[in-house]
Amino acid sequence: MDPLTAVPADLISALQSRLGPRGILTDPADTAPYCEDWRRLYRGRTPAVLRPATTEEVADAVRLCAVSGVAIVPQGGNTSMVGGAAVSEDGSQIVLSLSRLNRVREIDPIDMTMEIEAGVTLKAAQDAAADAGALLPLSISSEGSAQIGGVLATNAGGNNTVRYGNARDLVLGLEVVLPDGQVWHGLRRLHKDNTGYCLRQLFVGSEGTLGIITAAVLKLYPRPRETAVALCAVASPEAALDLFNRLQQHDAAAIQAYEYMSGLGVELVLRHIPGAALPLETAAAHYVLVELATSRKHADLRGAFEGVLAAAMEAGLVADAVIAESGTQRAALWRLREEHSEAQKLAGASVKNDVSVPVSKVPELIRRATEACERLVPGIRVVPFGHLGDGNIHVNLVQPDGMDGAAFLALDHTLMDAVNAVVRALDGSFSAEHGIGRLKPFMMPEWRGGAELDLMRGIKAALDPQGLMNPGKMLP
Ligand code: MLT
Ligand code: ZN
Repeated sequence: MDPLTAVPADLISALQSRLGPRGILTDPADTAPYCEDWRRLYRGRTPAVLRPATTEEVADAVRLCAVSGVAIVPQGGNTSMVGGAAVSEDGSQIVLSLSRLNRVREIDPIDMTMEIEAGVTLKAAQDAAADAGALLPLSISSEGSAQIGGVLATNAGGNNTVRYGNARDLVLGLEVVLPDGQVWHGLRRLHKDNTGYCLRQLFVGSEGTLGIITAAVLKLYPRPRETAVALCAVASPEAALDLFNRLQQHDAAAIQAYEYMSGLGVELVLRHIPGAALPLETAAAHYVLVELATSRKHADLRGAFEGVLAAAMEAGLVADAVIAESGTQRAALWRLREEHSEAQKLAGASVKNDVSVPVSKVPELIRRATEACERLVPGIRVVPFGHLGDGNIHVNLVQPDGMDGAAFLALDHTLMDAVNAVVRALDGSFSAEHGIGRLKPFMMPEWRGGAELDLMRGIKAALDPQGLMNPGKMLP
């Protein structure tokens, strides 16, 4: 039987009558954008994309699917780097998009919290916090499309982890639709609440395999009074680490972001992204982008930068640097970093390794992983970049110029294994911030096997005994 027809027609009509015409898409032309992931690694098909507009509608839709034994793939902005919201090829799964749950319910300037629905984009959430005079300190390259529900389900990290932690560190409360359609109303805004297992943290990072996050209470922070951004050409990854250390010694609390970029990564951005420009005299092999920010008065961050950078230049760590003079210049510097993924996509097929190691071992990771990949595929373009300040480097690999993209992608496991061998030797993790999704479950037994994977399977079986929530993701 065609699995598309395995989703019972009476389920589709029940969903249609519960969600109304705006709440369900069934025409393949309308469902197509939900069936391909951002990286174009997976193309699936589905008989329906559900677009509920309220938590109650999500709950009823989930209940109807559970009764029919039909699996659901929750989807936010569909920006996963690991196929976390990819629907299967056999057409047996229904996509549930959270896009219409897009209200900022409340911002409390005294509690410094924001209650927000899952379908609000991260950018819109940041803007709403800023309008209320506060800061939502989570920033990722895909923030214009990524939605809060997906960001939390993935436990996204991004550029500000060095200071504020990962997404889970910002979550005080959650509202979740459970696999049987019950709603868990956990939207608390307490900083202290020792009342049994910390359920909200179970759902954060669960990649939609345990339930669907429909709303959250997030912590806000004071808006910085002063921000300073510098782009520095550094002598080596070791010099980048040394400069990080110097800034920490000077004023660790002011480091808002500390990002590494290779010369090749920046070159790809300059080549493929219209309007991108390098504001330094000569190109370098290694760069760091540093953001300092503080809500203190008269902090003189620019002066701090100048002092630390002058000493670092004298020590031969920094060859050249520019400190942004305006908001526009700050944004232009950040663009060089934020457009890395897009530029790599335009440069051809790529294999991504989202890995982390102790911060002190980042230079060794960059050197050894680069050597290992270059040994395997001559001409490969190794583009290590990312969040040096928290130890998470994206060792992305772009196909050699002129090589067939499919032939390069056929080597993905070999290349990922080679990078992972280095990561393992350095006591790191094969999955830092993008999650496991559909791409990496096969790595789980080797890295998290034994009691750890048994525990995870036990949790999954307890919450989702029918295995209907985002099947094929995370757990092997
Ligand atoms: C980023 O930090 O820009 C993304 O997480 C990167 C990626 O691996 O493409
Ligand atoms: Zn990243």
